[in-house]
Amino acid sequence: MKYDIRDLKLAQKGKLRVEWAAQDMPVLEQIKQRFKKEKPLRKTTVACCLHVTTETANLMDTLKSGGAEVVLCASNPLSTQDDVAAFLVKFLSIPVYAINGEDNKSYYRHIKQVLEYKPQITVDDGADLVSTIHQRKGVSHEILGGTEETTTGVIRLRSLEKNRLLKYPIIAVNDAHTKYLFDNRYGTGQSTMDGILRATNRLIAGSYFVVCGYGWCGRGVAMRARGLGAKVIVTEVEPMRALEAAMDGYQVMPMKQAALLGDIFVSVTGDINVIAAEHFPMMKDGAIISNSGHFNVEIAVEALKKMARKSRQVREFVQEFTLKNGRRVNLLGEGRLINLAAAEGHPAQVMDMSFANQALCAEHIKKYSKKMENRVYSVPENLDKRIAALKLSAMGITIDKLTPEQKKYLASWESGT
Ligand code: NAI
Repeated sequence: MKYDIRDLKLAQKGKLRVEWAAQDMPVLEQIKQRFKKEKPLRKTTVACCLHVTTETANLMDTLKSGGAEVVLCASNPLSTQDDVAAFLVKFLSIPVYAINGEDNKSYYRHIKQVLEYKPQITVDDGADLVSTIHQRKGVSHEILGGTEETTTGVIRLRSLEKNRLLKYPIIAVNDAHTKYLFDNRYGTGQSTMDGILRATNRLIAGSYFVVCGYGWCGRGVAMRARGLGAKVIVTEVEPMRALEAAMDGYQVMPMKQAALLGDIFVSVTGDINVIAAEHFPMMKDGAIISNSGHFNVEIAVEALKKMARKSRQVREFVQEFTLKNGRRVNLLGEGRLINLAAAEGHPAQVMDMSFANQALCAEHIKKYSKKMENRVYSVPENLDKRIAALKLSAMGITIDKLTPEQKKYLASWESGT
């Protein structure tokens, strides 16, 4: 079996961590047990481009239990947990091509290596795998369909669809309620704070904390920063989102104003140059800037490098840049997803639902691909609802049922009183 990972000897450490995450993934576990019996993915090669984390390892196990041939590469050069990669190779015999800290060249080489397995289903996070497939001339084998995990990936795929270039159907897992309402909000909220804390060990209380983008991730980050006592400022470009942030009790202002005030900045927009060259000289001495959006384009890192008088690595995940005005700006995790670069990504409890969606959508593609067109599809509503019900039940929560009288009332238009 071929693979390219840091060190196979890390496998035992990875095993313990993967088992730890599994304890908090009861919905995925149920799917795995059913997959073991029914083998819905028999004779199907599934290529995954995901953050190589303990939760991903549990998804790989589930897909393999369903009969799939699974192969994995990283969806970010800094997010790979090398012990997890070793675990997957040694204990699950899954070919993995991912090394933490790999350069861009190796990152794309690994994506290409995964494609050599001629996958019938692709499971992507950020659409680098699908985009690589689409940049090749023709697809030499039949791809039944794919799934996409994150907002940025869905945006790229919708652009392919709009330009009539999409070569096979994709299910936008990100857009399932059981994904973005929990993973993007609570997962990114908590793990982004975790990443910033691990990288800096700063007290959040009393600080001005700027959140760029009040989408699902931004809401989570703002909520958790406020919970730790920060004075939260939100920047936005969408009036509706800005209004919501204002009514949620945050200060809302343009980035040029926020740049003057912020102690800590997090960009979570999926957009480019949100924290731009013009903002750096405005910042206070010692300002901390980070990104939790999918790609490392949200902060103008190259401009910062060029305009800095000097720079040095002051902590493992902190690069200090001294500007011409003598002030220091601290960049966390090279401007890459800080929750994965400096922490461990989302907790297993939310990935349980995201990856339950992934597993059920892979099964759906295998079953129904012939009826699907080259479009970006939503997760079927029945799957989304089933996952919510399973998660509630796993959490030991029961809820009320509509009475026949209530059902009738809610379906009627005649009586208002
Ligand atoms: P979203 O679409 O719900 O929110 C993005 C928000 O940013 C929107 O409200 C948009 O108006 C705003 N925005 C865009 N340009 C802006 C600008 N120049 N200044 C201020 N605001 C701006 O997207 P979501 O789900 O919150 O995702 C955001 C990013 O985070 C994406 O790249 C996504 O892939 C990524 N993501 C990262 C995760 C992580 O583990 N760190 C987990 C899930 C998503």
